[in-house]
Amino acid sequence: MADAVDPPVLEIEDLRAAPTDGGDDILNGVTLTVRPGEVHAVMGPNGSGKSTLANVLLGSPEYEVTGGTVRFRGDDIADWGPDARGAAGMFLAFQYPQAIPGVSVLNFLRQALSARKGIDLSMLELRLSIMEWMERLGIDPSFADRHLNDGFSGGEKKRNEVLQMAILEPEVAILDETDSGLDIDALRTVARGVEEVRRDRPDLGVVVITHYQRLLDELAPDVVHLIVDGRIVLTGGPELATELEAEGYGKWTGDAA
Ligand SMILES: Nc1ncnc2c1ncn2[C@@H]1O[C@H](COP(=O)(O)OP(=O)(O)OP(=O)(O)O)[C@@H](O)[C@H]1O
Ligand SMILES: [Mg+2]
Repeated sequence: MADAVDPPVLEIEDLRAAPTDGGDDILNGVTLTVRPGEVHAVMGPNGSGKSTLANVLLGSPEYEVTGGTVRFRGDDIADWGPDARGAAGMFLAFQYPQAIPGVSVLNFLRQALSARKGIDLSMLELRLSIMEWMERLGIDPSFADRHLNDGFSGGEKKRNEVLQMAILEPEVAILDETDSGLDIDALRTVARGVEEVRRDRPDLGVVVITHYQRLLDELAPDVVHLIVDGRIVLTGGPELATELEAEGYGKWTGDAA
């Protein structure tokens, strides 16, 4: 655990954001602090702004920040582009979405690593480190030579994402797990990935956006937030996820209208 003097890995204060091409704010004042080593879950109904939050954190040009601040390890990152955020150690699942057809998982990871750390591992070095991670994560070794965009299933995309997280050694990982149709194995890969990466890097901060209680059963978040209408309306411990699963969001969407 961190000293009291360590700044939070991620400090979001009253964050507001709207689509760049016009329209009302989608995020209406999100406040959330992730300290080193904490796992936060963000839950909320469809359309509440969860993916928008992830995209704004990654610096997507699709959104304009209209208010509030985001600090990464104490620095205000308002002026940082997506590449600078990635290089500094913010991992966002869709950081490198340009998957060129014909590029293998291995090659893709090599490019991502070069962007994050400015080091170019040889293919052999990279293969060895990826092999080790695939073994730790229970991923079949042949996966490294699969081609991106070559008919990846939802679960395979997740495996690629988790491998990427492991190899890039981020300070904070933001995972938008709203993809429907992930089977329990894919959810376990995500949970196990987070667990294994945290084993090496106990200070890693994680924000998991999910609808799945099942994922949270595997992942054991420290803090659970409920986002409704672009704002966090409730924060609690892991029991909150269970409550929301049992009761649904109705009580909160009604109040927030
Ligand atoms: N670029 C955009 N332009 C206009 N509206 C947008 C844009 N991005 C998101 N929205 C709207 O903002 C709201 C929040 O969308 P968002 O994708 O963040 O929801 P979500 O909480 O991730 O939902 P889900 O649970 O379905 O994944 C939705 O009404 C969506 O249509
Ligand atoms: Mg979403």
